[in-house]
Amino acid sequence: MRGSLVSMTGTRRTLGAMAVGAALMGLVVQAIRPSLGRPEGPQVEAAVPAQVREILVRRCYACHSDEPRLVWWDEVAPVYWVVASDVQRARAVVNYSELGTKPLAVQRAVMFESVNQIQMEAMPLQIYLLGHPHAGVTAEELATLKKYLAPFAAASGPSGVAAGGIPKHLTEAAGPSPNGVPFLPGFADWRVISTTDRGDNHTLRIVTGNEIAVRAIEAHQLPSWPEGAAFAKIAWQAMDDGHGHLVPGKFLQVEFMEKHRVQYAGTGGWGFARFVGTDLKPYGKDAHFDSECLGCHGPVRDNDYVFTLPLPHGARVGR
Ligand code: HEC
Ligand code: HEC
Repeated sequence: MRGSLVSMTGTRRTLGAMAVGAALMGLVVQAIRPSLGRPEGPQVEAAVPAQVREILVRRCYACHSDEPRLVWWDEVAPVYWVVASDVQRARAVVNYSELGTKPLAVQRAVMFESVNQIQMEAMPLQIYLLGHPHAGVTAEELATLKKYLAPFAAASGPSGVAAGGIPKHLTEAAGPSPNGVPFLPGFADWRVISTTDRGDNHTLRIVTGNEIAVRAIEAHQLPSWPEGAAFAKIAWQAMDDGHGHLVPGKFLQVEFMEKHRVQYAGTGGWGFARFVGTDLKPYGKDAHFDSECLGCHGPVRDNDYVFTLPLPHGARVGR
């Protein structure tokens, strides 16, 4: 992070000069400005500690908030147009000033993704750093963010994902899966790896990973997952809260994938299981129901059958 910031200061003066040029040429076009007015949603700040919030405000609110902060040359068209388009795209994916309207588990997942983006130097956008050479996240700020996220790997009880809407009594299934794959209690307290309410308006889904999976992510061991790595995909019915925000309704099901190369050799080295409803009824009419799971997960066998790959997913941005 440091190195790339230093290398960018050389281009700063050039960009400053370009911005002045734009200012002189662009007086006429100043009248044409896309609006950056406040979006409709209610403003509810994320449930994060003050130091974390300050970092988001300083480094990310410029684009990902209801109060975009523009330095003077951003206010000058056509630079303004580029920035305005970035802000609109940025808000569409993450708006930190409205993040507080989401369930806690979703807020944490977004924070997890945010720190990934910073670590990979994908955020703030590289092009933005050219014009704003001191806008990058410092090593100390990154350390603060990582310290904030660390406890969630081991979080348990009411402070875990459970607080985000998983009924806390979901610790015991009605029986094993028909293919013998066990229910894995504690899935609600595993680290949230990703979340999605995109492309599907009926369910909210969160993917959590056990400690072995989380360590593999941190050690950049992907895409081959180590023995014992496990994922849970938790689904709720999505409800509209009346302000256009989806919140978790009824708990629907939890699905597991657990890696044991030899034991589950017939299904790509993964044991698949699904438990449905608040009584966690094992899904599948016989031991071979998991060919259904493989039907979808098979095409991603190059990713070791796993869809959720937080790091490569993030790497797409700004690279
Ligand atoms: C100059 C504007 C700008 C700044 C500043 C900025 N971002 Fe972004 N960010 C964007 C844009 C634009 C996108 C959407 C990229 C795309 O189109 O895929 C984005 C996307 C993201 C995503 C979603 C990535 C994904 O694919 O799911 C995350 C997370 C994110 N930013 C985090 C941050 C964080 C954390 C900061 C502050 C450290 C930050 N951004 C600062 C413009 C910005
Ligand atoms: C219709 C396609 C489809 C079927 C069938 C399917 N999955 Fe998935 N699964 C996905 C997708 C797509 C994801 C990525 C997360 C998301 O977008 O919801 C996923 C994610 C998961 C995850 C989180 C890890 C990962 O790969 O990202 C688990 C665990 C999981 N599925 C288990 C199962 C089990 C168990 C079954 C069978 C009972 C199953 N899946 C059947 C499409 C499918």
